[in-house]
Amino acid sequence: MKVGVLGTGDVGKALGGGFLALGHEVKMGSREAGNPKAQAWVKELGGRVSAGTFAEAAAFGEVIVVATLGVATLQALTLAGPDNFKGKLVVDTTNPLDFSKGFPPRLSISGEDSGGEQVQRALPGARVVKAFNTVGSPHMFRPQFPGGPPDMFICGDDAAAKAKMTEILGLFGWGTVDVGGIASSRYLEGMCLVWVLHGASTNAWNHAFKLLRK
Ligand SMILES: NC(=O)c1ccc[n+]([C@@H]2O[C@H](COP(=O)([O-])OP(=O)(O)OC[C@H]3O[C@@H](n4cnc5c(N)ncnc54)[C@H](OP(=O)(O)O)[C@@H]3O)[C@@H](O)[C@H]2O)c1
Repeated sequence: MKVGVLGTGDVGKALGGGFLALGHEVKMGSREAGNPKAQAWVKELGGRVSAGTFAEAAAFGEVIVVATLGVATLQALTLAGPDNFKGKLVVDTTNPLDFSKGFPPRLSISGEDSGGEQVQRALPGARVVKAFNTVGSPHMFRPQFPGGPPDMFICGDDAAAKAKMTEILGLFGWGTVDVGGIASSRYLEGMCLVWVLHGASTNAWNHAFKLLRK
């Protein structure tokens, strides 16, 4: 499978590396071709990875990961070209965090809207699933916890896209908890803040969520 990864940060690298490890082809996108971080990543991993612009990565991917700075995601999607996303599974990992008033951050989008909903509105025809926004990048691929595989909370409007996402999460080493349509991003983006607050209060970032059932 061809995977386009929009983002040269830790999330882009972690998820791109995960897809590569599973045998997929990955193209990392950035605002400008020749981005040094993307070039270094391609050099480090070699083989089935390449780099290009956001638009090139989006056109390349059969599945597209959006891993851009939360408050700049809509600009990145405009650069990527919304037509490049039509009909595809789009994994939205972003959190619209606003650090302008210090720590803890606030959500720059809240109330009756969310980053996930904005991504879906910006990409009509794409099948957006919110995922991977409630854990730190070091644990995104094959997380190892004493309590067993953690759960990734996801949401999205397209059932088939969520089924595909669940399959991918299983291969990445995660259980999946589906919390509904893309509007549930309002809660998953808030859940990110819970993850951040626990990290800050314990000064440790090795935690992930798991839903216990009986
Ligand atoms: N870091 C984590 O552990 C973690 C965990 C869960 C979720 N998240 C969320 O995942 C997303 C990615 O996080 P990250 O830490 O990997 O990277 P990041 O530093 O938040 O974002 C890096 C990407 O954002 C792009 N970007 C920055 N400003 C932009 C602008 N004005 N217009 C268009 N694109 C712009 C950069 O483009 P260039 O490549 O061109 O510089 C780069 O590709 C964020 O929304 C974050 O909240 C992060």
